[in-house]
Amino acid sequence: MRRRVVRLIEAQEWWARPVGEWNQRWLAAAFGAAGPAKDLLNGVWLGHPVHPAVTDVPVGALTVAAVLDMTGHRRAADLAVATGVAGMVASAVTGAADAVDTYGRSQVQATVHASLMVGSLTAYLASLGLRAAGPAGRPLAVALSLLGYAGMAAGAYVGGELAYGSGNMVDRHAWRAAGARWRRLDVAELPEGALVRAKAGAEPLVLYRAGETVHALHATCAHAGGPLDEGTVVDGCVRCPWHGSQFRLSDGRVVHGPAVYDQPAYEVRAVEGGLEARRLPAPID
Ligand code: FES
Repeated sequence: MRRRVVRLIEAQEWWARPVGEWNQRWLAAAFGAAGPAKDLLNGVWLGHPVHPAVTDVPVGALTVAAVLDMTGHRRAADLAVATGVAGMVASAVTGAADAVDTYGRSQVQATVHASLMVGSLTAYLASLGLRAAGPAGRPLAVALSLLGYAGMAAGAYVGGELAYGSGNMVDRHAWRAAGARWRRLDVAELPEGALVRAKAGAEPLVLYRAGETVHALHATCAHAGGPLDEGTVVDGCVRCPWHGSQFRLSDGRVVHGPAVYDQPAYEVRAVEGGLEARRLPAPID
């Protein structure tokens, strides 16, 4: 089934790509003007994306609303629909903050996902209006809610494909073990104040020397795999060249999103004829 759905999503590229790019432009301007709001909505403070947590509210409330509608509990159903609509609005805002940094296949999927959710929200808003207007419009209100539910379920499937199938907003280092082994680096000399790419075994690292201290992070950005060694250093952090996430050089802690996960950090020691590195434990505070 998944293959068919993926093909169906990909067939939407002709309209989803230009719409996604257009949305990305105005959303980037809006979130840029809002300053740290985007970090808040992405989930930098939480160490986890906020959007999938918020979406549980409308999915739960609107499922309950459907059951209550079917069993004739009108007032409770109306309250559940209102709760679900509020949850959908919050989900739309957090989802938009994540969608700003999607490209290619992920951007198409994000646009299809968002379009289905907007359609669903529109149906639920119309349903809510009819529910408030009185009993005459009740059958249509319930029908619109069911239509909205179908749209939400389809949108949730596409959202799941975006996260689990395309790896959007997942930790790129989830399977990388800490390990206590020192590994030889393939560089011996480090110029001061410059980002240098090096290999520790199979792992690419980015090194930065400040005086006698050598900082080392994994070179693959936790957000979407950008090359941190091609980034810049800002206030003790390395800034990813792709979407601007910032990680503290001293311990890999994420300081600005869209990344919400920390970057693996390494300690470096001088040995005869060169340098060695080994993974540090993840920061706790
Ligand atoms: S790849 Fe997106 S911020 Fe680094």
